[in-house]
Amino acid sequence: MTSPITGIGYARLSAPDLGVMQEFLEAFGLVKVHRDGKRLYMRGIGEAPYLHVTELGPPGTIALGYEAVDESALREFVASGAAKSVDQVDEPGGGKRVILTDPNGLQLEIVSGRANIVPLPPREQVRGAGGASLRRGPSRIRRVTHGVLTTPRMDETLDWYHKTLRLIPSDEIYAGTPANRLGVFSRLDRGDEPVDHHVSFIVRHAEAGVHHVSFEVEYVDDIFMGHDHLKRLGKYEHIRGINRHALGAQIFDYWMSPFDQMHEHWISTEHMDVKSAFGSHRVDSDMAHDHGDNVTPRFSRHSSPLISRSPD
Ligand SMILES: [Fe+2]
Repeated sequence: MTSPITGIGYARLSAPDLGVMQEFLEAFGLVKVHRDGKRLYMRGIGEAPYLHVTELGPPGTIALGYEAVDESALREFVASGAAKSVDQVDEPGGGKRVILTDPNGLQLEIVSGRANIVPLPPREQVRGAGGASLRRGPSRIRRVTHGVLTTPRMDETLDWYHKTLRLIPSDEIYAGTPANRLGVFSRLDRGDEPVDHHVSFIVRHAEAGVHHVSFEVEYVDDIFMGHDHLKRLGKYEHIRGINRHALGAQIFDYWMSPFDQMHEHWISTEHMDVKSAFGSHRVDSDMAHDHGDNVTPRFSRHSSPLISRSPD
C-alpha cells in the first residue's frame, strides 16, 4: 500500500522573538504571509499557503506538517487509533488536520484541503537591455523536502514511521559494522511515481529532537546566491556547505536560525521509486564519494528540542 502522505507541507517551530525570526527567514529566502503577536507564517514561491510557521515560545520545534493524499487518509488515521479526531485548521489556507505523536513526542500534523495561493512571479531569466549580470539576493524556495530527527530510540522510531506513514528505507549509514547503525534515510512509497531520496532521516542521538528541516531551492543557482546573501549579511551562523552528498545527488548548504534551529538549502537531481535498491554504507569509506568538507561536531551533535503544546 502506498504512503498516505505526499510529502512535508511545513515545519512548525517555536521562537521567543518573531521579528528576529522573520528577518532570518527572509534572508534565507522565505516570504511573509501573516504575522500577529503569536505566530509568523512564511511561504515559498509556489502555491502552498505557507511552508514555515513560528509560534512565540521557547526555541525548538513543535511539529512537522505533512500533506495527506486526500481527506480520507485523515479519517483512516482516526480509524486506526493513530489520531483522535479530524479537526478544522484555523490558519491561512484552512483545511483539515489530524495530529499524530511519534515515539519521541514530536507532533505530526497531517493536513488536507489547504487552499492554494497564487505563485510568486518567476525571476527574470533574460538580462534586460539596461541590466547587468550581477544578481544578488536571497534564494527562492519551492517547498519543504525533508525533516531530520534525532532520537535515542532509533529502531522504534524507524518502525513507527515506516508503519504509520508507510515510508520505505532508501539508504542507511553505519560506523564500523552494519550493526552500528547511525541513521536511516526513508522515502515515500508513491509506487512508480518518482520521489525524493528521503522525506525523513532518522539519526541516532542522545537527545530526541529535530536536527534540521530542508527547503528545496528553485535552481542550483539559488544555493550559491543564497549562500552569498546570508554570508554578506554577516549576522547568521553558517554550519556546513556548500557540499554535495553522493547519496541522492544532494547539493546542500546549512544555516542556523538565531534560535539554534538548523535550516537547509537543498536541491537534487536523483529520484527513486518503489523499486529502487536499498543501500547500506560505511561512513568512513563509502561516503568518500561526497564532495566538500568533513562533518564537524557542531553539525553532527546538533538537536533542536521538541516543544510540546496543544494545537488549537
Ligand atoms: Fe537534509
